[in-house]
Amino acid sequence: MDFLNRQWLLKERPPGALTEEHFQLVETPLSGSDLSSGQFLVKTLILGFDPAMRGWVKDRRSYLPPVKLGDPMRGSGVGQVIESNHPEFAVGSLVQGLTNWQEYLVADQSAGLSPVPNGVTPELALGVLGTTGLTAYFGLLDIGEPLAGDVVLISGAAGATGSVAAQIAKIKGCRVVGIAGGKEKCDWLVSECGTDVAIDYKGESLNDALSKYCPDGINVFFDNVGGDTLETAISHMAENGRIVMCGGISGYNDPDPKPGPNNLMTLIIRRIKMQGFIVLDYLDQAPNAIAELSDWLESGDIVSRVDMQRGFENVPSTLERLFDGQNLGKQLLTVAEAELPIP
Ligand SMILES: NC(=O)c1ccc[n+]([C@@H]2O[C@H](COP(=O)([O-])OP(=O)(O)OC[C@H]3O[C@@H](n4cnc5c(N)ncnc54)[C@H](OP(=O)(O)O)[C@@H]3O)[C@@H](O)[C@H]2O)c1
Repeated sequence: MDFLNRQWLLKERPPGALTEEHFQLVETPLSGSDLSSGQFLVKTLILGFDPAMRGWVKDRRSYLPPVKLGDPMRGSGVGQVIESNHPEFAVGSLVQGLTNWQEYLVADQSAGLSPVPNGVTPELALGVLGTTGLTAYFGLLDIGEPLAGDVVLISGAAGATGSVAAQIAKIKGCRVVGIAGGKEKCDWLVSECGTDVAIDYKGESLNDALSKYCPDGINVFFDNVGGDTLETAISHMAENGRIVMCGGISGYNDPDPKPGPNNLMTLIIRRIKMQGFIVLDYLDQAPNAIAELSDWLESGDIVSRVDMQRGFENVPSTLERLFDGQNLGKQLLTVAEAELPIP
């Protein structure tokens, strides 16, 4: 079969916000009959979006090499195998991994795609049961080490990672305070995620709210935002508190990094641990974590929420939604519907 493959290629590395103008939409012919032994053709169904993608286009040393100019933008997704010369990837089966911003992908073993387990939807594979859920799980439990009764503060709490971390903290018997932008997100955190308190940082002073809701201090801070939020939270940490450095989205679009928190001495005075982590380092422990996350989904202790956009032409603008705070839950985009029965 012959296809026209649309791809979004990285055109330039902007100093500030990453927007549609920094990508080029191209259309190239692709022939399925050209597959060599060990190759399979994947049709992208759903793409997932993560603020870290902003960092992947920066020309600097990181945990992954920068996306090259002229290459399809790196991104996770779920696709369906529509032709195959590989015995382990049957036609019709669903695969997950770095499908990148393209409608079709000729893959082999080296692409690192893995089967979506039976019974797992693409939404869950890219969300609670994918790297998003694992980030929340290992960041909170391994770095944050929450104890029952602890006060756990979570920034970006209505986002993909934050909302899962908030719910795991509740499962562990903690008092959970979420920070999110806007009433709708805060209402959802309290009514659906079981968060004890949700602070709308766009509508009230975070400092005042933390004085009010965390009068005895914060034991664990799971930070997705960085910047002023981190600085304010540090001032409210309890003795022997733990700060989980998950992300710092407030600074990802800054051409030059802003000076860091001005109150780091507080870490010494109050014996606070602050530690970063990368979820990829935990992949060997993922099966047990996924089993536990699956149980929590089944029991209703964790609810999954996705924000689904549609249309390949809207891929770059969907990434922008994360930086405008438009998404509630995991940001996804449907590229195409599955066209073959799933075996
Ligand atoms: N360490 C790791 O291995 C790892 C792995 C995955 C993700 N992460 C990090 O985890 C964080 C969350 O990622 P996610 O995929 O779950 O995204 P997300 O939270 O679903 O989406 C991003 C959210 O960040 C908030 N935000 C955007 N700009 C902001 C600003 N200037 N100040 C404050 N909040 C802002 C917005 O929520 P509001 O409307 O509430 O502002 C937005 O909805 C990111 O920092 C990401 O880089 C780390």
